[in-house]
Amino acid sequence: MAQETSRDVGPVVLLGPPGAGKGTQAKRIMERYDIPQVSTGDLLRENAAQGTNLGLAAKAIMARGELVPDDVVCGMVRERLSRPDCKRGYILDGFPRTAAQAGWLDALLDDKLFDNSRPTRAWPIVICLDVDYNQLLLRLTGRRSCPTCGRIYNVHFQPPRVDELCDLDGTKLVTRNDDRLEVIQPRLTAYQEQTRPVAEYYQRTGRLITVNGDRPMDEITAEVYRILEDHHA
Ligand code: AP5
Ligand code: MG
Repeated sequence: MAQETSRDVGPVVLLGPPGAGKGTQAKRIMERYDIPQVSTGDLLRENAAQGTNLGLAAKAIMARGELVPDDVVCGMVRERLSRPDCKRGYILDGFPRTAAQAGWLDALLDDKLFDNSRPTRAWPIVICLDVDYNQLLLRLTGRRSCPTCGRIYNVHFQPPRVDELCDLDGTKLVTRNDDRLEVIQPRLTAYQEQTRPVAEYYQRTGRLITVNGDRPMDEITAEVYRILEDHHA
């Protein structure tokens, strides 16, 4: 679909369990509206790969499928959102993930980072991708990604043209360390116990839009674009 870079999209929050398709849809939103994907999981993995103190502390927690402490993640998000490329909007992928992070984000958006003379820009559109448990398992165990460009594949649903190689740059695809069965279960439990309440919080405050994520990727993308464009019509 064509680019739509003239719109102020504002903050978009993508919620959903591990494997729901947040990263896949975030990349498509990013391309269409030219706003950055702010994935806390990707930022933490980048830090871990670079061996920063933050990354080293987060690595062991992520390998167990648990959540990284709120203050660490919020500090990282604050820094990322203060960069100029976030002015027209951004996509929060995998954040907020706890009630404390949701409260922190509300306070931040109320605060000075954003232009208070245009308050509509500050309220995020919150989209939750809803996907069946067995489908999540298939998506997570089949996922591969390109360590060079970040493109996401799936051996069951979205295989590369040549086995195990990225279509775009030919790099050998990798499997995420936390996509092992013994880590997937605690990740799903963390979602149920700590992130479901975030979705319920947005539901209670009338801000949650649930999208059926158990459909072909293009159908979901078309619905997400419609939601974003109706919101700003
Ligand atoms: P994070 O990296 O955010 O992982 P996650 O939430 O577990 O989600 P995933 O990235 O696994 O799935 P996704 O929804 O992006 O799906 P994708 O598009 O890749 O977090 C990792 C860890 O970091 C956490 O466990 C925690 O430790 C830490 N962390 C991160 N954020 C944190 C925070 N805010 N607070 C504290 N800790 C935090 O798709 C999955 C697969 O399915 C792909 O192979 C894709 O090709 C395929 N697929 C996608 N859509 C479809 C479709 N419609 N049909 C068929 N296949 C599809
Ligand atoms: Mg992801």
